[in-house]
Amino acid sequence: MRRSVVRGVGGYLPSKCVSNSDLAGNLDTTDEWIVERTGMKQRHLLGDGQNTSDLAAEAAKIALQNAGIDASAIDLIVVATVTPDHPFPATAARVQAKIGATKAFAFDVNAVCSGFVYALSVADQYLKTGMAKKALVIGADAMSKIVDWNDRSTAVLFGDGAGALVLESVDETHVDFGRGVHSTHLFSDGCHYDLLYVDTKQASAKQPGHVHMQGREIFKFAIKLIGEAVETVLHHNSIAVDDIDWFVPHQANLRIIEGISTHFKIPMEKMVVTVDRHSNTSAATIPLALWEAANDGRIQQGQRVVLEAMGGGLTWASALVVW
Ligand code: ACO
Repeated sequence: MRRSVVRGVGGYLPSKCVSNSDLAGNLDTTDEWIVERTGMKQRHLLGDGQNTSDLAAEAAKIALQNAGIDASAIDLIVVATVTPDHPFPATAARVQAKIGATKAFAFDVNAVCSGFVYALSVADQYLKTGMAKKALVIGADAMSKIVDWNDRSTAVLFGDGAGALVLESVDETHVDFGRGVHSTHLFSDGCHYDLLYVDTKQASAKQPGHVHMQGREIFKFAIKLIGEAVETVLHHNSIAVDDIDWFVPHQANLRIIEGISTHFKIPMEKMVVTVDRHSNTSAATIPLALWEAANDGRIQQGQRVVLEAMGGGLTWASALVVW
């Protein structure tokens, strides 16, 4: 049996940083409302001439450097995104060209805010079977391309960014400290698509569509479905909350993260939180949080890390990774 082991992590945020007060200059909103309802204080947005693949490529380069692995050794690139540079080619193919991963096969996954866990699960299948040896799994989104900047109920919630993991397929007998991806759990329910979607009316007018969200309904689903996903990953691996070193949740709203913390009695100190500084970067929130917490020394080799997410689709997902 083979295991997908994390070899490197990277992240990238565009340099343009927009505070709540900056947004309040153009929208009928306030810093107080945004902080109180979401915990968000700022977000990074694409600069002129930048696109999703640029963010993804920068994150990938940092992850490769962190892993000490050359791009030419990568044989699989999976990018989770809902804001591709183009409908086609895949953003993953653009990344491949930008980083020089000439031997890789590359494709995108669309599962909205659950996208990174979905992409991790997909890559894990190739690595476990040995069909790929070294993979780049990237979550990259530029939500600023698809929010309606005149709609205060959604515009304040999102940001742009990318995060990446380098994973290697290793024979289980050679894995130290039980490292690797232990399980991934993916769920979808297309019946509630209308609670969170991007319209196509604008697309037919040759402009990108806009995000529409029934925030309060999504909030309720998030608490319920993330709860299910966390219970599933704990049960599947026969572990309790106390056995987990770090929870890395999707960063849609600090209140959702606190709700999960209260429900499962997970101390907030074990939750990796970036929503205050990054806002919701969709598929990028989890790998960006992993990058931050691994970089500052919180997440250490051999520690148990639970990932969880919920997003448009509806989709929801969880995973257990021993770092
Ligand atoms: N500034 C000031 N007032 C605002 C703003 C704003 N930016 N946005 C909405 N309001 C107003 C509303 O108009 C409403 O006013 P009213 O009472 O006069 O009608 C009031 O604030 C309350 O609005 P709600 O939408 O009920 O506020 P709520 O407390 O639910 O917070 C929020 C909204 C932050 C969106 C919350 O519902 C939420 O986080 N939902 C979940 C988001 C999420 O999990 N997304 C998941 C994934 S995203 C993805 O997959 C792409």
